[in-house]
Amino acid sequence: MNLETTYLGLTLRNPIVVGASPFCDNLDQARRLEEAGAAALVMHSLFEEQIDLEQQALLHHLETPAESHYEATSYFPTYDEYHLTPSTYLRTLERLKTALTIPVIASLNGRRPGGWVDYARRLEAAGADALELNTYQLASDPALTGEDVEGDILEIVRCVTATVKIPVSVKLSPFHASLSHFAAELEQQGAAGLVLFNRFYQPDFDIDELEVIPRLKLSYSSELLLRLRWLSILSPHLKGSLACSGGVHTGEDLIKAILGGAHAVQLVSVLLENGPRAIPAMLDGLRSWMIEHEHTDLHKVRGALNLKRCPDPAAHERANYIKILQSWKI
Ligand SMILES: Cc1cc2nc3c(=O)[nH]c(=O)nc-3n(C[C@H](O)[C@H](O)[C@H](O)COP(=O)(O)O)c2cc1C
Repeated sequence: MNLETTYLGLTLRNPIVVGASPFCDNLDQARRLEEAGAAALVMHSLFEEQIDLEQQALLHHLETPAESHYEATSYFPTYDEYHLTPSTYLRTLERLKTALTIPVIASLNGRRPGGWVDYARRLEAAGADALELNTYQLASDPALTGEDVEGDILEIVRCVTATVKIPVSVKLSPFHASLSHFAAELEQQGAAGLVLFNRFYQPDFDIDELEVIPRLKLSYSSELLLRLRWLSILSPHLKGSLACSGGVHTGEDLIKAILGGAHAVQLVSVLLENGPRAIPAMLDGLRSWMIEHEHTDLHKVRGALNLKRCPDPAAHERANYIKILQSWKI
């Protein structure tokens, strides 16, 4: 049975990728995930803000970026609070490349075009097989238009893809007025693939202490539905790769993502909850399903439930929406 897939031009032995998270900060952990069957790993992000701190420190001749005035006045973590400093990030990447045989994807995380995008060159030189760009931001300034926000992301992608030869993917937000159009524009700027989607971490309110509490909650399979929908809509039109990130917890979730059109799925929550053994369990689920449905090659399964054969996807989605609202009878 062939579970191979091509993601960002890389041949992967199966579609399971470890998503951006602290797993890759630790070499032993990364090895265990490779042994369990992971086909590629995405490193934790290196953030624009960290790189800026380092560059400011250089500018002001400070011995360490931790002495920078900028950090004391900002909402952001201090330099020491990040998991990996930019230089330890590069060293960790080099070590991962030496210790592992599967591809290692570095992750750069920023929101405005700037000097930080040059770091892509250093990640490539350190051996990254590909680069994932995360442009997470919540546009709260009323003066900022959707065009401004998308223009910044497109400019970041253009600069990075012009700088490196390795494939570059973009981890996207689902909240764009016309995601299909924006996805096509990202491809035009050189993106080799998209990761659907960033999760938006919603802070809660503490009603006794009157405080806002940032809290990281792990995902559930229910979050997969948003991804399935957009995989189905985008996969017939895009030339590049699609990865599904968010809500993949079981073999069934993995199969659904592939049927929607994903070349790969990225796992984080399920690995934090169950450890590396979640990977062989999911792959067993995929194999059993393929045997049951008489498939021998994953390439032939991918996209079987996307909207390729639908003449009018917008009308199809609208009709589904109306049917769902009409389905509840009292
Ligand atoms: C502890 C933790 C750290 C994460 N760090 C990053 C990161 O550095 N960069 C990034 O793009 N996503 C990061 N993510 C988001 C994950 O890569 C992933 O998109 C998200 O958890 C959804 O996948 P899941 O449902 O499998 O958890 C992190 C998630 C968790 C839980």
